[in-house]
Amino acid sequence: MFITLHAPLDMHLHLRDEAMLETVAPLSAETFAGGLIMPNLVPPIETREALLAYKERILKASNEQNFTPYMTLFFKPTYTKEFLESIKDELTAIKLYPAGITTNSEGGLSGFDVEELRPTLTAMSELNIPLCIHGETNGFVMDREAEFASVYAMLATNFPKLKIIMEHITTQESVALLDKFDNLYATITLHHLLITLDDVAGGMLQPHLFCKPIAKRPEDREALLKVALGGHPKVMFGSDSAPHPQHAKEACGCAAGVFTAPIALQVLSELFMKHSTMQKLQAFVSDNAQKIYSNIKISPKLVTLEEKEFIVPHHYGEVIPMYAGEKLQYSIIDIK
Ligand code: NCD
Ligand code: ZN
Repeated sequence: MFITLHAPLDMHLHLRDEAMLETVAPLSAETFAGGLIMPNLVPPIETREALLAYKERILKASNEQNFTPYMTLFFKPTYTKEFLESIKDELTAIKLYPAGITTNSEGGLSGFDVEELRPTLTAMSELNIPLCIHGETNGFVMDREAEFASVYAMLATNFPKLKIIMEHITTQESVALLDKFDNLYATITLHHLLITLDDVAGGMLQPHLFCKPIAKRPEDREALLKVALGGHPKVMFGSDSAPHPQHAKEACGCAAGVFTAPIALQVLSELFMKHSTMQKLQAFVSDNAQKIYSNIKISPKLVTLEEKEFIVPHHYGEVIPMYAGEKLQYSIIDIK
């Protein structure tokens, strides 16, 4: 059984910088045609110069593997229309983090005052720049995403022409929002389709599965599976592959993030095959994103997988991947 995917896209990807970038960029660049690159570096990507320089470093680290980094800027309510006009052709989206909600988000937004946001969000709507959001409040950890639903609703209503991407959704409530507002879309990670909080903390604590948003309840995972496996047109794959060195994960004070980039297509193939929904995988890993992000250009890439055992490496440099040392059922056998 062969599966050929056309131009797989990872619409939520952390590539970091310096040595970590050198380790992880070639892995995504090999199997994906492009990825939406998150801007939460230290300091975050907030200027044209920083964005262009980071893009260059990514391309260099990708070893000319025909991979397009779709760049994002770290949202600031002070971005003016003139600034956005000047940078619009260099970026694909702008990513909004509530302040302190996750890794390197201290410079994020500390409140959602619609009038404060109006000039920047109106300019983004007019310029067709999508807004990606890490949608969590700072409430009780299991309720943070559900509590954020009112913010999504407020933004979707006030800025009906703005494309808003709910990043890495993990709850039934977020899935329900997709059908309530025309301008809300979502990415779903690999790990949130596979695990619940039980896998993270139900037995011995699994630091390599700890991420933000935290994995939720079985019924939440079911709701995510339903739209991903069903090829829901407003849902796309975004791995949120977020590498941290082993010492930062296996530590007192574990960094949030699951590293899945090099196993994502193999595990997605297994998952879609298991549910007999293979015909929807192409929509989930590429076609939906191409329609939602009408501003992206696609690098041609054909990735072929076969039902053949693949043993996940124990580590990639300093990073431990999800399923380290375990057997997967699908392998990538050809990339053109
Ligand atoms: C991400 C990271 O490490 O940059 N961590 C995570 O747990 N997902 C940030 C993010 O997307 O929240
Ligand atoms: Zn992320």
